[in-house]
Amino acid sequence: MTREEAGTGDARPILFFDSGIGGLSVVAPVRASLPSAPIVYAADSAGFPYGTRSEGEIAARVPALLGRLVERYRPRIVVIACNTASTIALAHVRAALDVPVVGTVPAIRPAAAISVTRVIGVLGTEATVRQPYVDDLAARFAADCTVLRHGSAALVEMAEATLAGEAPPPDRVGAELHGLLGQPGGDRIDVVVNACTHFPLLGDALAAVAPAGMRFVD
Ligand code: DGL
Repeated sequence: MTREEAGTGDARPILFFDSGIGGLSVVAPVRASLPSAPIVYAADSAGFPYGTRSEGEIAARVPALLGRLVERYRPRIVVIACNTASTIALAHVRAALDVPVVGTVPAIRPAAAISVTRVIGVLGTEATVRQPYVDDLAARFAADCTVLRHGSAALVEMAEATLAGEAPPPDRVGAELHGLLGQPGGDRIDVVVNACTHFPLLGDALAAVAPAGMRFVD
């Protein structure tokens, strides 16, 4: 689909899907480049959080929900704006739906492209960081890097709380980042992949507790 086809002359919406508000970090840049495209945003608040669920639960739940949403909204395209759902269920969703489906997966390739130390951190949910999909991205795009991973349910909760106006406590954000940087070799990480769509919503808070010069990609 060209940018023109996606952005104009098509009344069908783009359907964004996440477990919560994280997908808004994906909607924002799409809105900026396609301001007139109709958007439907669906958050599975009954299933939230995904990051502490099993692979089986996600693989069954996400295609079923999206099937119903596609029937209801007839979107031109579905964006799974969730790394957990994408790394576990993208293939199942594509097999089940008759519309194009775009996933959101950890930005290991862009991280490897800019890392100087060749040590990359992947900060995602507990479910995402253990996925073979992530092993595969690391093997294909960061074979000459050490890729350290940390799963954080607390950061997801803190991101959701920002919607209620709660500022993320710096010590708690710092403790979660330490889960990555405190691992053996973690002091050499120069690029962190925000491998959960909730985490860019904590971008300022993460940058404030990160060592000088550390870069974040999503
Ligand atoms: N926003 C989601 C992700 O990108 C998951 C958050 C959650 O529900 O645990 O992985």
